[in-house]
Amino acid sequence: MPSRLAVLASGRGSNLQAIIDHFDNLARERIAKVVLVASNRADSPALIRAATASIDIAHFDTTDDGSMLLELLRKSRIDLVVLAGYLKRIPPKVIREYAGRIINIHPALLPAFGGEGMYGARVHEAVIASGTKETGVTVHLLDDEYDRGPIVAQWRVPVEPSDTADSLAARVLNVEHVVYPRVVEMVAILQQLEAMTSA
Ligand code: GAR
Repeated sequence: MPSRLAVLASGRGSNLQAIIDHFDNLARERIAKVVLVASNRADSPALIRAATASIDIAHFDTTDDGSMLLELLRKSRIDLVVLAGYLKRIPPKVIREYAGRIINIHPALLPAFGGEGMYGARVHEAVIASGTKETGVTVHLLDDEYDRGPIVAQWRVPVEPSDTADSLAARVLNVEHVVYPRVVEMVAILQQLEAMTSA
């Protein structure tokens, strides 16, 4: 049985699209499939992408203690929660119930250039301002802090002298689209192996 993925996204949803496409391409060999896309923003383009792919969508409120999100995840029998451009804090009660089963992608080499308020163009602006010659992509398991928790994968991306935040963001995003679906697949495989050996 494929693992059941929920993707949480606040914005454009290009990583969501890469994940949907990846598992669609694997067809019957797929180890996981996206069964729910949920957003804190009712107008998120990610929800339109999901609806187009005939995936269940949901909008949830982030002003509660996480009960609404938890209920959605339970109802859809979610095995793994994938954050793809989800920019709000995940409440502790959700992290507790899904410990080790929430993964996040960040467009820099954590722990550098991460933390509260570090998302989107701000990350790439800070990278350029620092003068560093390389940045990258980090995928990690979620802790109770922004952009923290055990790192599962990192991939380096060069910073060119002529880069703007936009050109750097585009180079990093291309790498995200390759790395994230494959890391999600790997984490789903590990989860299934663990379930088999502990059964
Ligand atoms: C991606 O670059 C992702 O790494 C970043 O938001 C973007 C979402 O793009 N996430 C963070 O900055 C988390 N701190 P997308 O909506 O097109 O996938």
